[in-house]
Amino acid sequence: MAQTWTPNSWRQKPIQQVPDYPDLAALDAVEGRLAKFPPLVFAGEARRLKSALANVAEGRGFLLQGGDCAESFAEHGADTIRDFFRAFLQMAVVLTFGAQQPVVKVGRIAGQFAKPRSSGVEKQGDITLPSYRGDIINGIEFTEQARVPNPERQIMAYRQSAATLNLLRAFAMGGYANLENVHQWMLGFVKDSPQAERYRKLADRISETMDFMKAIGITSENHPSLRETDFFTSHEALLLGYEQALTRVDSTSGDWYATSGHMIWIGDRTRQPDHAHIEYCRGIKNPLGLKCGPSLTADGLLELIDLLNPANEAGRLTLICRFGHDKVAEHLPRLIRAVEREGKKVVWSCDPMHGNTITLNNYKTRPFERILSEVESFFQIHRAEGSHPGGIHVEMTGNDVTECTGGARALSGDDLADRYHTHCDPRLNADQALELAFLLAERMKGGRDEKRMVVNG
Ligand code: TRP
Ligand code: MN
Repeated sequence: MAQTWTPNSWRQKPIQQVPDYPDLAALDAVEGRLAKFPPLVFAGEARRLKSALANVAEGRGFLLQGGDCAESFAEHGADTIRDFFRAFLQMAVVLTFGAQQPVVKVGRIAGQFAKPRSSGVEKQGDITLPSYRGDIINGIEFTEQARVPNPERQIMAYRQSAATLNLLRAFAMGGYANLENVHQWMLGFVKDSPQAERYRKLADRISETMDFMKAIGITSENHPSLRETDFFTSHEALLLGYEQALTRVDSTSGDWYATSGHMIWIGDRTRQPDHAHIEYCRGIKNPLGLKCGPSLTADGLLELIDLLNPANEAGRLTLICRFGHDKVAEHLPRLIRAVEREGKKVVWSCDPMHGNTITLNNYKTRPFERILSEVESFFQIHRAEGSHPGGIHVEMTGNDVTECTGGARALSGDDLADRYHTHCDPRLNADQALELAFLLAERMKGGRDEKRMVVNG
């Protein structure tokens, strides 16, 4: 496998999940234009994320990764982005303060447009059309015209990513993320949610701590880390023509980087070791995610680790485990044992969404208690194996949607119709996301106290 890699060497390999573009010359022209556009992210930022993740791999810190299942052109507005960022900051602060660990913040945003599909076609009544593959490829409307893959959409996705990233950078660095605003992040519908009281108490304690620090001369003016936060972007690297067009050499190191986002991941359906997606990803230096589902064997995982991270560099690879609440106990331990036995350095992250999707009243949904149950098992299993439960990967929004059942507001199957807005999979609403963060903080803290007892005892 030590063949030479180039940004287009994936084109020689078998590939899954490729759209059927009717006009290949037009596709070529779009990729040529994209290749001349400025990069969305910089190599130095990707390296910074990698070193933050290296700490997590070594057992210090936690990865919070979340956002839409699929971003859409229709919902590209400042309010949606702000609401997401606000909910995400709340989760981050709950985890940081509650668990007293650094939290690495990575959004599924500013590039999360392409969707793998289990079937190439979708049937409604007697009509069969090509499946919707995400706004970067075709339209969600169930018409023949909308479902034709259109390369111009890649240009639109690039421009939307740039605008989203611009706003996120402003939020992260321009004052919105200042810890002095910890109370303000709760404005919006979470204000009167069941989580509000809990959050308010935590925010009060942070404010008190900030006041104390101010009294001794430590303020957000003289300590930027109090008012700024590192926020990174990520998406599934599914549409390889687009990824290739944004692959650039970093002039300082001479290495290749994907500049479409800081971290990219490989889906559970496209991780065949001799196929195109693995080929593309092995050659770029960004931090990578690998989705691990029930069909992944221990040997299969070790083979992929050797391909993607031959130097065993900590922070390079995050294993995003998505088994399902009833399957995690069967599959996770054998993967952990193989990885630990071989001394491979990885971040273990839990995606409690994708293995817990069911259909209820004709809606795709996810019961919140199953999501929590997979998270609980993930923590228990890591404690039992002596490995570090290093992260969470969720589909979430800052809005008051009704897509996942359960949670403190006890959304039922009948509530799903109220505000079911997702373009793809059901997401946690801001309330459920915050509830999950509180649970995570408790579990992380539990693990820390346990470790301390071992050290002291
Ligand atoms: N810079 C620190 C961090 O990102 C502290 C911080 C500032 C922070 N703003 C935040 C933490 C918002 C969580 C949420 O961890
Ligand atoms: Mn999804």
